[in-house]
Formats: sequence, C-alpha cells, structure tokens
Amino acid sequence: MSDLFACKPIAVLEAEAANLEVQGIVAHGSPPLKRTLNLTSLIALGIGGIIGAGIFVLTGHAAAEYAGPAIALSFVLSGFACALAGLCYAELASTVPVAGSAYTYAYATMGEFIAWMIGWDLILEYALGSTTVAIGWSGYVTSFLNDIGLRIPSSYASAPFAFDPASGLWTHTGAIFNFPAAFVIGLMSTLLVIGIRDSASVNNVIVAIKLTIIILFIIVGAFFFKTSNWVTVGNPHGAFIPPSAGPGHYGWGGVLRGAGVVFFSYIGFDAISTAAQEAINPQRDMPRSILGSLFFCTILYVLVGLVITGIIPYDKLNVPDPIAVGVDHIGFGLFAPLVKFGAILGLSSVVLVLLLAQSRIFYTMAKDGLLPPLAARVHPKFRTPYITTIATGIVVALLAGLAPIGLVGELVSIGTLCAFVIVCLGVVVLRVRHPEIERPFKTPVVFVVGPLGALASLFLMIGLPVDTWVRLGVWLVIGLAIYFLYSRKHSHLAKG
Ligand code: ALA
Repeated sequence: MSDLFACKPIAVLEAEAANLEVQGIVAHGSPPLKRTLNLTSLIALGIGGIIGAGIFVLTGHAAAEYAGPAIALSFVLSGFACALAGLCYAELASTVPVAGSAYTYAYATMGEFIAWMIGWDLILEYALGSTTVAIGWSGYVTSFLNDIGLRIPSSYASAPFAFDPASGLWTHTGAIFNFPAAFVIGLMSTLLVIGIRDSASVNNVIVAIKLTIIILFIIVGAFFFKTSNWVTVGNPHGAFIPPSAGPGHYGWGGVLRGAGVVFFSYIGFDAISTAAQEAINPQRDMPRSILGSLFFCTILYVLVGLVITGIIPYDKLNVPDPIAVGVDHIGFGLFAPLVKFGAILGLSSVVLVLLLAQSRIFYTMAKDGLLPPLAARVHPKFRTPYITTIATGIVVALLAGLAPIGLVGELVSIGTLCAFVIVCLGVVVLRVRHPEIERPFKTPVVFVVGPLGALASLFLMIGLPVDTWVRLGVWLVIGLAIYFLYSRKHSHLAKG
C-alpha cells in the first residue's frame, strides 16, 4: 500500500532535468530531447497555447448570457485564479524542469498514485483541449472558405454523432466525418514530429500574426467605444454590471459565472512547463515565460472584453464569431475576413501547443514505466518523442472527426482545474518536505498563494455542471483501473 504514495526522489528528477542518462532514459537507448527553446520561443508557446477559441468564440456568449460589459471583470477574476496557479507552476517548473509538468510535480510530492491520476487527468486538458479547439478550427475554416466562395458540405465538416444530454441518447446527425478538424490535428502532429525548433518557428509566426490582429482590433475598436452600447432592454440605465436577472444571469453572480466560462481562454499557459526539457535555460526562463505570457494575455483579454461590449450591445453578442461580428458592426467589413483568418491561425497554434504538451506528458509517464516503454522513444534524428506524438495525433484526429464539441469541451476546464489544485498544493508540500533544494524562482508568500490558488480552482470547478463532474468521475475510474492493471506493476520506482 505504501508504494502507492512513494515519491520520486528529487535527485533523480534533478538528473532527468539535466537530461542525464538515468534510470528509464538509458533503458530505452533514446537520446534526450533537444534543447532549443529560448525565452522568446517559450513566451510565444505560452501565447500560442492561450489565445484561441476562448477569446475568439466564447467571449460573446459569456458577455451576452452572463456578465454583460462586466465580462472584462470576469476576465480579471479568472486571470487572477490562473495567476495564483501560474506562480506555483513557475516555482515547480524552475525547480524541477522536466517534461512531465503537473504529473511529475505530483510524483515528487504526493506519490505515484496521485501522480498517475493527474497524468491521466491531464489527458482531459491537453488531448481533449486540442480536440475541442480543432472542432472550433473546423467551424472557422468552413465559414472562412464559404466567405470566399468555397463551400465544404457540412456532412464533411461536422460530427456524425450528437449527444442529447436531456435524454442521454446518441443520435446520428447524417454527417460523415469532420475532416477539417482531423486535418489540423494531422498537420500539427506532423510538425511536432519533425522537430521542436520548426514547431516553435511556425508558432512564433502565428503568434505574431494573431497578436497583430487582436491589437489592431483593440486600437480600432477603442475609437468606436460608447458606454451607450451598454444600454439594453434588461439594462435600461446602461450599468457596467447589468442588474441581476436570476442566479448567474448578470449582476455579480453573472460576473462569477462568466469567469468560469472564460477560464477556458486561459488554458495553455501551463503547457509551457511541459517544454522544460527542451528549453535552453529552464531555471531562468520557465517562470518568466509562464508568468509573462499569462500577464500579457490577461491584459489583452480585458481590453478585448471592454472594446467588444463597448462597440456592440452585449445582447447581440451570442454568436460563434463575436469579434468578426464586432468588426462588421463598426463598418470595417473588410477587416472581418482578416479577423477570421487570425482566429484560424490562432486556433492552429493552440492545437499545436496542446498536442506538444500531451505528447511530453505521455513520454514522461512512459519513462517512469507507467505507460509502455515504446512511448518513451525519442526519434534519433528529430529528437522528438515521436511515438507519443503520432499515437496522440491519431487518437485525437479520430475524436475530433467524430465527437460533438459540447461533449468534449466541458471536460477540458474541469480537467485543467483539477491539475491546478494539485500543483498549488504540491508547491507547498515540496517547500515543507524539501526546504533545502535550490529554487531559482520562489512563489511569493507561498503558504497563502498555494492554498488560495487551490481554493480558487476548486471554486471554479464547483461552478461547472454536475454532469461534467460525473464524466470526470467516470474518466478517473477508468484511469484507476489502468493503474492497477498495468502501471503499478511496471512502475520503475516500485521496482526500485
Ligand atoms: N486557451 C485556449 C483557447 O482559448 C485553450 O483556445
């Protein structure tokens, strides 16, 4: 029983972080991952992973249904919860800079069982996250192609199955397969196999373009900002926080619910930590890139929230492409296709970063013996974990082609928040158990920030629908079964 909570020794982790040939690494005869990422590429990875479907798709719905113009406040609240988790990630990623991220931090602090469960849970964040964003990508691409006169029949660009939560039944939609969604997964997986340097270069370009478009939107939109746009039927006095219209509908309750919804738009900053073994100077650059990208995106999100609700009344924003609609509304129709193009690129880099993170987590778990050793192979030429990248790509592409967005999307936030709770607690546990190890970055007032971060994440989790919790429970039970049937018996740590 005690081996369930055996922790991976810090010395082994430090050696792995240095890419030394210890334990599992040498066993598979694979070379270490390639260290090529500098601070700029790491920050770009963060921004590439963060800015995507959340801001381009969800903002409108959250403003229209829950927060009104106070969506900007929802972004501040959600960003604050992420900042608490981000500070904890920053300390752990600089202290234990290995590709396993939250999984490895849990292995070092809470033992193998919790680590496995978090590794398993991270599939919800990274694999299902990339599935969700790929399905969103497909929607934007088909709409963009339609605008320029190229129509993809919807039966080739949507899921063949739909799930009705009310009846609990699956129905056939008549569609065949969501080919664009599977295509973007295939494309990004190929890039990831070819090399981390190429992946980072493509990501850098995408990030530059999407930032230009968003910043342009903010600057141009600011000239059309009018508080009179806050006036709607339900908000006749044009209050910044519209009067409450029931629990979670406007008022402060709506701001909080909005924070829960837009949390999705922050997911991805933590993915930087999975690139720790590919960073040139992880001790210095992990904290800077995690906190830097998070801070920068929070500012952009708040500004987008303010501008979009200042140029178009929030009750007209419940659309799948709110930013393009906002641009249309102020009469910059020509700019609208550009915004769509920016969204397509933006979503592509999110897919790239989340797939990168997923393959690194599997790779680390395999190195620890918790997944089959084949998954720990590193390509001799490209120096990437190609087996996990290809396997993840195939499964995620199938899922993106077959699954409806609602079903997969809901699980992403709960899976991420669950990992945040463990990371926020893990940083405190490591401080208590190993006060002696060198910490290049220290979370300020960690005994407040850690527990507060865990509570904030738990709070956001509690706001999620009950059926999402049930699905999380089912997912964790499947993970439990795999752990006891396979992983526990093959664990390198258990074998000594
Ligand atoms: N934060 C990422 C997005 O909004 C997952 O697409």
